[in-house]
Amino acid sequence: MEKIIEENKQGTSLVLENKEGNSKKLFIESYGCAMNFSDSEIVASILANEGYNTTQKLEEADLVLVNTCSIRDKAEQTVRKRLEKYNAVKKINPGMKVGVLGCMAERLKSQFLEQEKIVDMVVGPDAYKDIPNLLKEVDEGRDAINVILSKDETYGDISPVRLLSNGITAFVSITRGCDNMCTFCVVPFTRGRERSREPQSILEEINDLASRGFKEVTLLGQNVDSYLWYGGGLKKDFEKATEMQKATAVDFAQLLDMCAIAHPKMRFRFSTSNPQDMHEEVLHIIAKHPNICNYIHLPVQSGSTRILQEMNRQHTREEYMTLVDKIKTIIPGCSISQDIITGFPTETEEDHQDTLSLMEYVEYDFGYMFAYSERPGTLAARKMEDDVPEEVKKRRLQEIVDLQQKLSHKRTSRFLNQTVEVLIEKTSKRSDAHWSGRNSENVVVVFPKENYKVGDFVMVKINDCTTATLIGEATGYSDMN
Ligand code: 5AD
Ligand code: SF4
Repeated sequence: MEKIIEENKQGTSLVLENKEGNSKKLFIESYGCAMNFSDSEIVASILANEGYNTTQKLEEADLVLVNTCSIRDKAEQTVRKRLEKYNAVKKINPGMKVGVLGCMAERLKSQFLEQEKIVDMVVGPDAYKDIPNLLKEVDEGRDAINVILSKDETYGDISPVRLLSNGITAFVSITRGCDNMCTFCVVPFTRGRERSREPQSILEEINDLASRGFKEVTLLGQNVDSYLWYGGGLKKDFEKATEMQKATAVDFAQLLDMCAIAHPKMRFRFSTSNPQDMHEEVLHIIAKHPNICNYIHLPVQSGSTRILQEMNRQHTREEYMTLVDKIKTIIPGCSISQDIITGFPTETEEDHQDTLSLMEYVEYDFGYMFAYSERPGTLAARKMEDDVPEEVKKRRLQEIVDLQQKLSHKRTSRFLNQTVEVLIEKTSKRSDAHWSGRNSENVVVVFPKENYKVGDFVMVKINDCTTATLIGEATGYSDMN
């Protein structure tokens, strides 16, 4: 499953260039993971053909869409507050229509329309192409809902508009859905079964980005390592593919290789990796290409084999450690980041200690850490009691966060006095005189602007660091330019 961008903060409202002749106004806001942001770009692209330009002013919108996340209860509560806000604005502007997209739409189905009556339209993650029809139903005063999950929808034929873009980095989705069935996770219910997008359409989207000056692409999926294109359909049906389809199938290692070769002056990242699906071949491809970043987001969730089993993760603590050893041998210096859930049902103090010791073993560069939140409908919610008291979850979470801080600081300080390659993304938040970008290992680097510009690959000598940021001075352009 993939990394969350924002959960507690206000979602990001997204804007794109106006299309001439369009007169209606769309306010579209996204919560949750990178996949949701990427999906909002697809939705905006569909609506640009229906006469909508985006706006950042909620009050002037004809249509308000919120792309939602269900991963934890807190994420859903944030969206609920926004729905209240939209409805308050709707009282002043009764012509305004409100639609809910994404994972909450899929999870709650008609509840928002029928019981709560707080939206006009409900659209699940596989039904965005139906939005123009659903809007007609709204205009005719009918409840508009489509939450059908698809076997083959990948939106490969829609060229997404880039919302809120820096013009340099972009997400490109390569798989949708997830077949893993981790017992805590709502995603298989909200995003359906796993399917892969055709390599040709992925490469075409990247070609287009390259021609428009983009310099970095992150290949996205709930589980990228299990990417498998064999001519269409669900991953689970691969066994039924013809011999020809099997012989010409493309897996993740091959896809990465194709991207890196096709665009040697572009950087590639990917997210998210699932330990049981990450094969050695992918590691060799990363090691082989300087333009594939040395960074792997490798959620572990727990350091205890017993808890991993309860979570239905398909690996043990030891297997995870072996994979980490392989990463460190094949890609020296590779950054590794984690997702960890603390306070899963039945988690003991000993299990918690196992998580802390695993963190020490891996020396994670970053981490995204969460207290367990029971999600309705998941196997854990149906079969297991949420029995770790809130204060224990909180204390364990704090211990994990503190340890990660310590490890992150150790990991950033390894770059002191080294010269790293940085892609400039934007002006630093703290200082107008400094650029901000990232090195291959995904650490933020800030340095004085001099005559460099956004989109340049620059060599930067590091002379200071905090837990999350490297500070340095440019020494010249890199040969990626
Ligand atoms: N409670 C807490 N955290 C969760 N995650 C997924 N489901 C839950 C849940 N029910 C976390 C996992 C996942 C990340 C995206 O969110 O760590 O990797
Ligand atoms: Fe993304 Fe949906 Fe998972 Fe939230 S619940 S992280 S939006 S896939």
